[in-house]
Amino acid sequence: MRLATTREQLWSELNAWRRAGERIALVPTMGNLHAGHLALVAAAGREADRVVTSIYVNPTQFGEGEDFERYPRSEEADREKLETAGCHLVFLPGHDTMYPGGISRSTQVSAPADLSATLEGEYRPGHFDGVVTVVARLFNLVYPDLAVFGEKDYQQLLVIRRMAADMGYPARILAVPTVREDGGLAMSSRNAYLGTREKSAATQLNAVLGEVADGLAESGARPDELERAATEQLTELGFRVDYVAVRRAVDLAQPGAGDRDLRVLAAAWCGSTRLIDNRPATFCCN
Ligand code: PAJ
Repeated sequence: MRLATTREQLWSELNAWRRAGERIALVPTMGNLHAGHLALVAAAGREADRVVTSIYVNPTQFGEGEDFERYPRSEEADREKLETAGCHLVFLPGHDTMYPGGISRSTQVSAPADLSATLEGEYRPGHFDGVVTVVARLFNLVYPDLAVFGEKDYQQLLVIRRMAADMGYPARILAVPTVREDGGLAMSSRNAYLGTREKSAATQLNAVLGEVADGLAESGARPDELERAATEQLTELGFRVDYVAVRRAVDLAQPGAGDRDLRVLAAAWCGSTRLIDNRPATFCCN
């Protein structure tokens, strides 16, 4: 596996592959890699000749008081995992490579308001602007044929799809379903913050979202009633709930009559750790 930390190193690796007519896939990450990230690398390897994984903890997507400073970093272990997973090149840029003029003076991209103001955007203002700013930079630097993202961050996936279409990037955006621990907890770098008892409580989040999805598919209960019941249930289990929301899968708008393709999304605090999760759902009866 090759390593690049500067733009020049990255381009010299990529140019050789491109000249050989190879198809290049990009998997953007913030590191502290787990099986969810590695599923993205594996999917990239199935669909392209070369897999580039970037590891960069992007400061512009963290808000004031969020966990940028303490976000887990494990570069050595990450590189070993990527090598085993069949990644061809790891891109480990420093801030100077991603934001050469300094972060405060850098060009920013804004995320489309309709997709980014709601849900995560409501609780993490500016978060998706930071995400699209860094992902657009990565797309410019790597110019991939394919870019792979996880459904774990469902809203991020939709925002990036829209950004890529709006900006005219030719990269196909491939979505990979959420990889979960045995009990159903969605794998996340932030799970490292959870103690043993918190981790078993955290497992309930996915189960409660499953009940909402079952309710939509079977009972014909109203989405807002199911959201309220799930919020109460999670609160009783000790979570502090930011939101539980049933939305249209295609654009995160409120579901209306006739909408069948839905997503149940949630964010909730388990102790001092903020968890997000989502699952697909269909509506049985409008
Ligand atoms: P990060 O949280 O490291 O996630 C990198 C990619 O892995 C994202 O596409 C995310 O959705 C996916 N992922 C994380 N956990 C997953 C799981 N359990 N199953 C499947 N996929 C999973 O998301 C980011 O970094 C950043 O916002 C980034 C896009 C890199 C921009 O900085």
